[in-house]
Amino acid sequence: MKTDIYVLGIETSCDETAASVVKNGTEIISNVVASQIESQKRFGGVVPEIASRHHVEEITVVIEQALTESGLKPADLDAVAVTEGPGLVGALLIGVNAAKAFAFANGLPLIGVHHIAGHIYANQLVQPMEFPLLALIVSGGHTEMVIMRGHGSFELIGETRDDAAGEAYDKVARVLGLPYPGGPHVDKLALASEIAVEFPRAWLEPDSYDFSFSGLKSAVINYKHNLEQRGEQLDPGAVAAGFQQSVTEVITTKAVRAAQAYSVKQVIAAGGVAANKGLRASLENAFNELQIPFAVPPVHLCTDNAAMIAAAGTQMYLSGVRSDLAMNGRPGMQLTSWNE
Ligand code: KG4
Ligand code: ZN
Repeated sequence: MKTDIYVLGIETSCDETAASVVKNGTEIISNVVASQIESQKRFGGVVPEIASRHHVEEITVVIEQALTESGLKPADLDAVAVTEGPGLVGALLIGVNAAKAFAFANGLPLIGVHHIAGHIYANQLVQPMEFPLLALIVSGGHTEMVIMRGHGSFELIGETRDDAAGEAYDKVARVLGLPYPGGPHVDKLALASEIAVEFPRAWLEPDSYDFSFSGLKSAVINYKHNLEQRGEQLDPGAVAAGFQQSVTEVITTKAVRAAQAYSVKQVIAAGGVAANKGLRASLENAFNELQIPFAVPPVHLCTDNAAMIAAAGTQMYLSGVRSDLAMNGRPGMQLTSWNE
């Protein structure tokens, strides 16, 4: 009797074309990511039309490679999970259509996954989830805190009111003349610097779990302009360190307050900015002190990948969630619970 569940995951919401086979939602069998970073670097960011073209070129190869590396045949799979949204519409459509074609051709169930649910379930590839948990999602498009009381149950308690943390990182990197995507470069500079410029902290209302990063971004830009007007030299390390301290302190403080208020058993971090060394260290310290278990996936599972989509898709599959072949990419998709 077959008891293991194998799900093929597909992710094309932004600038990575990715496919992966995951066993039982927890074990990576294959994980292929074709990144467009080299190509998008020239433009200093993701150009949607170029992203779509890359996805079209790569998608079939990437799916085939994920299957070959898994050693499985389509008939061995139980379902196909794909990022349905949010993301760039043209980019999403490539993955969604590839998933629909694959599912139809092989008679497999199709499951549309929310990209953020994917980032959260990346943690299942490392260790089991303990509920209730606080998920802190910090990526290029999102900065959110979500309370989960069980699998597939999401309560959004806070989100960014303007820029996402990753967007602010990329913008500050640009101001400092660093290549795209800037997050890792700012992180490196910040850690190497012994001095830090003092930038403001956006706490918002005292009880708010929301975030705001546009004021901090403007503060960095103004700081640079002021120095330029005075003909003084900017110290990129000190700016990066000051910016990172502000982001890290606000995110850590709010996450700690939320974890305590909701009496969570575990805190998990997810998304590209969760790869940030400064943020990881700050969260680890804070939750160690409080003795609340804290987990964050390894860096390659923090940034966009398809194993996380397959992991979330497996949980949805087990809960009986299915999409039909009329599924479309949903650029503005909201994170809704599939279990209450
Ligand atoms: O999750 P992700 O791969 O894509 C989205 O769903 O948005 O996140 C990409 C973002 C980019 O803004 C990138 O600069 C940021 O994650 N990032 C980092 C680091 N590594 C990636 N930000 C800060 N520090 C890092 N080490
Ligand atoms: Zn992402």
